[in-house]
Amino acid sequence: MSSQPYILILYYSRQGATRAMAERLAAGVESVRGIEARLRTVPPVSPTCEAVDPEIPAEGAIYADLDDLRHCAGLALGSPTRFGNMAAPLKYFIDTTSELWLGGALIDRPATAFTSTSSLHGGQETTLISMLLPLLHHGMVYAGLPYSEVELMETQAGGTPYGTSHLAGKRSDRPLDEHERRLAFAQGKRLARLALALDRHDEENA
Ligand SMILES: Cc1cc2nc3c(=O)[nH]c(=O)nc-3n(C[C@H](O)[C@H](O)[C@H](O)COP(=O)(O)O)c2cc1C
Repeated sequence: MSSQPYILILYYSRQGATRAMAERLAAGVESVRGIEARLRTVPPVSPTCEAVDPEIPAEGAIYADLDDLRHCAGLALGSPTRFGNMAAPLKYFIDTTSELWLGGALIDRPATAFTSTSSLHGGQETTLISMLLPLLHHGMVYAGLPYSEVELMETQAGGTPYGTSHLAGKRSDRPLDEHERRLAFAQGKRLARLALALDRHDEENA
């Protein structure tokens, strides 16, 4: 595995819209020299305790483990909006990170969040804020999007200063439009630059 610092892009996506955003953030990360993107997802959760899923998902990124998080130089967290909140599978994974919290593993690393919704006013900003909360508990430095990204003023769909968002429509099949694409790219790029500025990679690998 490469010894380059990486941005962990950790997302959950059932119908693909949040995954498309994750891939666009990854392109933004990869546009910065000296750092790479690592895409990871989390398994679905079920109210049936016995339910088990294959260890490797049928499509998209592989599942994250705690080490992906422990060693990242920065974190982008992505979730579909569910009742104005992040999706349970992502929250479930975050709830397994106490060990990292106890050791302060993520303190001072930059983080951001992104989300996808069916409806325009269906809770994008509240979902982004719901993802911000555990990141702050971990001592991460939250980075949204500045209004120097002109698409924030121009967008007719997704895009917020709290992080990027995407209006995916009723069936979650509306592609990212040009504004949303540019904002997701800019968010990945900004996070990568911040991560390099704050990086403790050499220190940790010494
Ligand atoms: C249980 C559940 C709750 C949802 N809640 C909301 C909501 O509060 N607001 C909204 O606009 N869309 C809501 N949606 C729709 C998803 O946010 C939307 O389809 C999203 O684009 C799915 O992302 P994905 O394609 O990455 O799975 C909900 C979907 C589900 C299954």
